[in-house]
Amino acid sequence: MRKIDLTALTPEVFSVFGTNNALLTAGDRTACNTMTVGWCGLGRMWNLPSCTVYVRPERYTYQFMENHDYFTVAVLALADHDKMKLCGSASGRDLDKFKACGMTAQYGLHDAPFPAEAEWALVCKKRYAQDLKPEFALDERINAFYQGEGWHRMYIGEVVETYVK
Ligand SMILES: Cc1cc2nc3c(=O)[nH]c(=O)nc-3n(C[C@H](O)[C@H](O)[C@H](O)COP(=O)(O)O)c2cc1C
Repeated sequence: MRKIDLTALTPEVFSVFGTNNALLTAGDRTACNTMTVGWCGLGRMWNLPSCTVYVRPERYTYQFMENHDYFTVAVLALADHDKMKLCGSASGRDLDKFKACGMTAQYGLHDAPFPAEAEWALVCKKRYAQDLKPEFALDERINAFYQGEGWHRMYIGEVVETYVK
């Protein structure tokens, strides 16, 4: 993949996340893990181009998010639906998902890994993390997402690099 200016990227965010979905990856050249994410916010925060992701503490990816300053969000082609399915059901505790999907790791700033096969990828530096909490939920439908599983931790990252196919 080649690096471009972020402003040249025009993803249809309201359909991409939830349809193509994305792979959230964290780690470095020594070890990394990736998982499917359907929830992602792109925009601007504290005057920085920002990417926000939400990770439950049960995820193996959570440890990588906590232990590294950078993460990446990569969107694969719709045809790669099987890869999204695997990365959204299997855990990196049990298998190397890059290998299982036949994907190659490419490295951005600070060795942040992302799948080289993606349509586009953002390299993000963590700027803020906070746990979502039941007492702040303003719609009862939100509780349905937390029957037996932990509340997500929100990570707001500054987009520091953009890659496209
Ligand atoms: C379409 C889809 C979207 C998902 N979105 C998220 C998400 O935004 N946050 C999250 O914590 N888990 C999400 N998941 C669940 C994780 O991808 C899944 O639990 C994965 O197996 C975790 O892998 P890990 O244990 O290697 O981190 C999603 C799963 C699917 C299939």
